Amino acid sequence: MKKRVFALTMAAVMGLSMTAFADGEVANKDKPLVWFNRQPSNSSTGELDMAALSFNEKTYYVGFDANQGAELQGTMVKDYIEAHADSIDRNGDGVIGYVLAIGDIGHNDSIARTRGVRKALGTGVDKDGDINSDPVGTNTDGSAGAVQDGSLEINGTTYVVRELASQEMKNSAGATWDAATAGNAIGTWSSSFGDQIDVVVSNNDGMGMSMFNAWSKDNGVPTFGYDANSDAVAAIGEGYGGTISQHADVQAYLTLRVLRNALDGVDIDTGIGTADDAGNVLSEDVYVYKEEDRSYYALNVAVTADNYQDFTDSTKVYEPVSAQLDESAHPSKKVWLDIYNAADNFLSATYQPLLQNYDDILNLDVEYIGGDGQTESNITNRLGNPGQYDAFAINMVKTDNAASYTSLLSQ
Ligand code: BGC
Repeated sequence: MKKRVFALTMAAVMGLSMTAFADGEVANKDKPLVWFNRQPSNSSTGELDMAALSFNEKTYYVGFDANQGAELQGTMVKDYIEAHADSIDRNGDGVIGYVLAIGDIGHNDSIARTRGVRKALGTGVDKDGDINSDPVGTNTDGSAGAVQDGSLEINGTTYVVRELASQEMKNSAGATWDAATAGNAIGTWSSSFGDQIDVVVSNNDGMGMSMFNAWSKDNGVPTFGYDANSDAVAAIGEGYGGTISQHADVQAYLTLRVLRNALDGVDIDTGIGTADDAGNVLSEDVYVYKEEDRSYYALNVAVTADNYQDFTDSTKVYEPVSAQLDESAHPSKKVWLDIYNAADNFLSATYQPLLQNYDDILNLDVEYIGGDGQTESNITNRLGNPGQYDAFAINMVKTDNAASYTSLLSQ
């Protein structure tokens, strides 16, 4: 008798709680939300948009440690120059000249990379307490104000290091990080001062590979990018100087994992710093969590001729977090996710394929929306019915525009 009453009570309790959490019962403003790849922030000052980052208790950002990665990229370029001192100065004028492709002058990650390279090569100048990250246009005579000539002493010889040119690679329609624009820029630069260019540096591999294929490969000029996309890693065998892995395999996992945890109502650290029921867990050397930013940051690794064989497939899931979750304990949920620009090399060739691998593992039914890279409304127009989804993953066109999304979820 007692047993029966208990069973009935349990059923009633479960019935109640199931109604309370059934699809459509949770207000959109209370659903899990993750920002990724573009951290809500002021594009002029870099200040984090904490209103967006703490939109509700289940809101997080997933990206990577921009400063650690930028420093690695700068050091990788400097180390290469030092190791190739006898051949690097192609025209023997004592000046090691480099050109720099800038992704988006209002994107924290792009700014950090420009600063990292200038810092390592001694070409940075101070602006408001930090290294100036403005593009210089053309600076073949070394007179630009946004940079200075650096110097490197290698084996007893002192070289001048000069940023010969840099430019934001934005196309006429407004898309940033634009690979085709970078390919055109290297064409223009090389035809007017090609013999002075000893090194090519880019804020990412999409632009870096475009410049490598258009010019530097044939001219034997080392080219450095960022992202460790599979094509760029393969090109290291053909003279591409190196790239940085931002551990997209860890980021894509974290992007969906924080949603899974919030949907399951479990501790947010589950399957992250603490092993989940399938054994998935990340070690501290691949990510950090900053509670005050509500942000997870993956750590970066330099990929050069020494280790590139280990990075040939950028879409492979990270083994320590590749175990399938049990569907009865972690039932399928619907997620709306957008990629700000369907044509972005990194996001389309590396990040999205990884997300698609992890969504199965985590039992998430994700609808992928690809934007045009220029207008936020092209994406927000496709979030007409947020009530259909259990959670949201957002990649903005402009880091200032978080409210365009949160306002849709607040209605
Ligand atoms: C990547 C770039 C990409 C950008 C998009 C960056 O983290 O390195 O390749 O274009 O994200 O926001």
